[in-house]
Amino acid sequence: MISKKKFYEMARHERLHYLKKITALPKRDIAIIQDPLSAFNFDDANRMIENAIGMLMLPLGIATDFMVNSREYLVPMAIEEPSVIAAASKAAKIAKRSGGFTAEADKSLMIGQVQLLPLHTPKEIAKQKILSNKNELLHIANSKSRYTIAKDLEVRELQDKSQNNMGEMLIVELIIDTQDSMGANVINTMCETIAPKVEELTGGSVILRILSNYATRRLVRCKAIFAKNELGGEHIVERILYAYAFAYSDIHRAVTHNKGIMNGIDAAALATGQDFRAIEAGAHAYAARDGTYRSLTKWYKTKEGDLAGEIELPVAVGIVGGVVSVHPLAKIALKILGVKTSQELAMILAAAGLAQNLAAIRALASEGIQKGHMKLHARNIAVMAGAKGDLIDSVARRISDENNINIDRAKDILSLLKEAK
Ligand code: MEV
Repeated sequence: MISKKKFYEMARHERLHYLKKITALPKRDIAIIQDPLSAFNFDDANRMIENAIGMLMLPLGIATDFMVNSREYLVPMAIEEPSVIAAASKAAKIAKRSGGFTAEADKSLMIGQVQLLPLHTPKEIAKQKILSNKNELLHIANSKSRYTIAKDLEVRELQDKSQNNMGEMLIVELIIDTQDSMGANVINTMCETIAPKVEELTGGSVILRILSNYATRRLVRCKAIFAKNELGGEHIVERILYAYAFAYSDIHRAVTHNKGIMNGIDAAALATGQDFRAIEAGAHAYAARDGTYRSLTKWYKTKEGDLAGEIELPVAVGIVGGVVSVHPLAKIALKILGVKTSQELAMILAAAGLAQNLAAIRALASEGIQKGHMKLHARNIAVMAGAKGDLIDSVARRISDENNINIDRAKDILSLLKEAK
């Protein structure tokens, strides 16, 4: 029987039982969640990176109530920060009451860059030579993969703007459909594979051959309505619009606002084995696409006075290849999510970012975030004060109720509780 309790009210074994029922996770996967070292040990880590000495554990949780394009998802999140999963779930629940998130994602088109110094050939002629041999270059690139397909090739002129004044160069760009993979490895291979031919055609010299993490042809868009009554009324909507005005217009605020968005995106990306640094880099560049760094989300009032939110950003993720194929917990996280394509995963990440942003700016524009944050942090403080077992929650509750969440008070209460035992 599935428990009637809310996910956050369940004990760990009840949560796992619920996941098993809802997502049809096999017993073996549940066992891996309970004991990750049984499936991923030091030898695996040692094969994955260099100079390995151990493994870093991060909490793995589930954000609930994510309705995206009329389908409900349980979103795995790996994160050390309290409040993020609770806040995302709460915002997702509010959105769900107004129909949930509506999202769409571009095809998985990535850009691979080859930097060419034309040297002895005038750049116009070099450019022409490359473009007139486009089909052959695409053919060479495509000889490296059957699954990932180089679809097009473009050439741009670029002038060095640095203090070194290195002059003019040509940037040859492969437009590559990586389908359900993130694609970094194949893109880099394709770039390296066409480089000798590019040099031969132009008599120039190739310097770099690498993908661009600014995945502007792989955008995802997501929106949702948050009913004013669920947010605390019209005046809270108004205050949230001021919060957005601040983030849109001030770079110091925009960075923090976007950090809140990335709390949701990175946590889900990390749990599902994605290269979150690539997503971060692309997202922040996109936030500055008009020349000024701004909020990645857009907030406005609907005719009814409810709050509408939108997010658009590049999200290069994969459900095959890379870490996704080797890390057992990433595979399980993808099974929990139940996504069938990389686009679907990108849409969930965008929804997680939008939800996280709403939750943060709603709290900031009303009671502030410290109340909720510190309440959750109280358990960490209790542990830092030396509490163990049942005493953790007892100490945390007392310092929270007293609104005095600090380590000295936690130590005092711990001594009193121990004496009373
Ligand atoms: C904290 O991790 C994230 C926030 O600072 C985001 C924001 O200020 O919008 C609360």
